[in-house]
Amino acid sequence: MSQSSDNVREHIDGNRGPWLDELFEFLRIPSVSTDRERADRVREAADWLAGKLGDAGCAEVEVWETEGHPVVYGAWRGATDAPTVLVYGHYDVQPEDPVELWRTAPFEPEVRDGRLFARGAADDKGQLYIHVKALESWLQATGTCPANVVFLIEGEEEVGSPNVEAVVREHLEQLRCDAVMVSDTAMFGPDMPTLCNGLRGLAYLQIDVEGPKGDLHSGVYGGTVVNPAETLAKMLATCRNADGRVAIPGFYDKVQTVDDDERAAWADLPFDEEAYREDLDVDALLSVEGFSVLEARSMRPTFEVNGLLSGWTGEGSKTVLPATAMAKVSMRLVADQDPDEIADAFTAHIHSVTPPGVRVKISRMHGGKPWSAPRDHPVLQAASRALHRAFDAETVFIREGGSIPLVGTLQGLFGVPTVLMGFGLPGDNLHAPNESFVLENFYTGVLSAAYFLEELAGSSD
Ligand code: BES
Ligand code: ZN
Repeated sequence: MSQSSDNVREHIDGNRGPWLDELFEFLRIPSVSTDRERADRVREAADWLAGKLGDAGCAEVEVWETEGHPVVYGAWRGATDAPTVLVYGHYDVQPEDPVELWRTAPFEPEVRDGRLFARGAADDKGQLYIHVKALESWLQATGTCPANVVFLIEGEEEVGSPNVEAVVREHLEQLRCDAVMVSDTAMFGPDMPTLCNGLRGLAYLQIDVEGPKGDLHSGVYGGTVVNPAETLAKMLATCRNADGRVAIPGFYDKVQTVDDDERAAWADLPFDEEAYREDLDVDALLSVEGFSVLEARSMRPTFEVNGLLSGWTGEGSKTVLPATAMAKVSMRLVADQDPDEIADAFTAHIHSVTPPGVRVKISRMHGGKPWSAPRDHPVLQAASRALHRAFDAETVFIREGGSIPLVGTLQGLFGVPTVLMGFGLPGDNLHAPNESFVLENFYTGVLSAAYFLEELAGSSD
């Protein structure tokens, strides 16, 4: 271990208080990307972050305009002949609803029992800030950094990253890199440093069913008019068989399986399916076609109804035959499924089960390709060593069921390895009330990120 990285470690230990204050400031900005009324607050978060990238030592800092929310770019390229790491993250957050279920206000951060509670604490403000502080620590503690670091932090990840690719394509030269680093996933468990080598892809669609010209009296018209709500429910029910398999024709055509070594490694991880079921407060889990729960989540695709809307849903009753019904659905994808092809298959299937008497409109919302990486890649091994040094524990490899659409896009554009080094934990309540981030993981995360820069530079010789 070098003298320099000892200085970095000391710097991290000495700055816990001020960094927490900065995180509080960041988390107080309600940068909810899906909320048009808060577009100015989203921009405020971008500007705040740009300021901090400058303070951390980035020689170049820019806020790039897009068709939607801005992208924050920063670069420190002072290490000649050293590799460059592109840090990708997102400063936008999910809406805070239902706000009444939060113990403390979502945009008033608070530390309780070692957890920092706020919307965005783990997803992804707290995690992306780890890398800002890792660069800053190297520069302030030693005057230099073993690797070059470029930041690409977007404001629309939570709405499917619709505009960032265009901006990335305009700035390929500024973003050139040898590896991509993302901290937007979780550790398998406490004290189990984790690298994620697979993410599921996504195809998200909305389906609108239209029936008669307007809502009808269900007594006067019921039994003579095709009911859009019931029709939609039936059509959605045809998308999955009783055995749990997705029933959309062609859905599994391109699905690849994961090799036995990797599955054997998952089987060694401590995962209690019964405890998982109990924690979710359900009396049974979905049948998972001969795969363990962990495998079902990591390597199998799925179809889910994300939302349903039709008819009278207010208090009391209203005898109505609704004129329209709407559902939002998404499919999580694995290699080699393609989001466009799967959206085509879903559309064809829904049309094939649409009865006369209603019209169906299907709109594509967003999508992302699945992504995976070989566990033995030297860059992942450098990350594994960095985690080992920081946590003093063996690194485990997992695949996540969630999606980060830009990861596949960046892989395609730059063709460089991607490291998903997440510091969240089960129980962080991402996208839900009382989101939190274990504070100790923030500091150990900074140390891990700092060590990674050193390991990558060393291993690239
Ligand atoms: N950080 C998550 C993705 C994630 C969550 C990965 C949990 C691994 C474990 C990310 O911010 C996210 O929520 N992504 C969305 C993408 C979608 C909006 C296109 C997702 O997975 O639903
Ligand atoms: Zn998220």
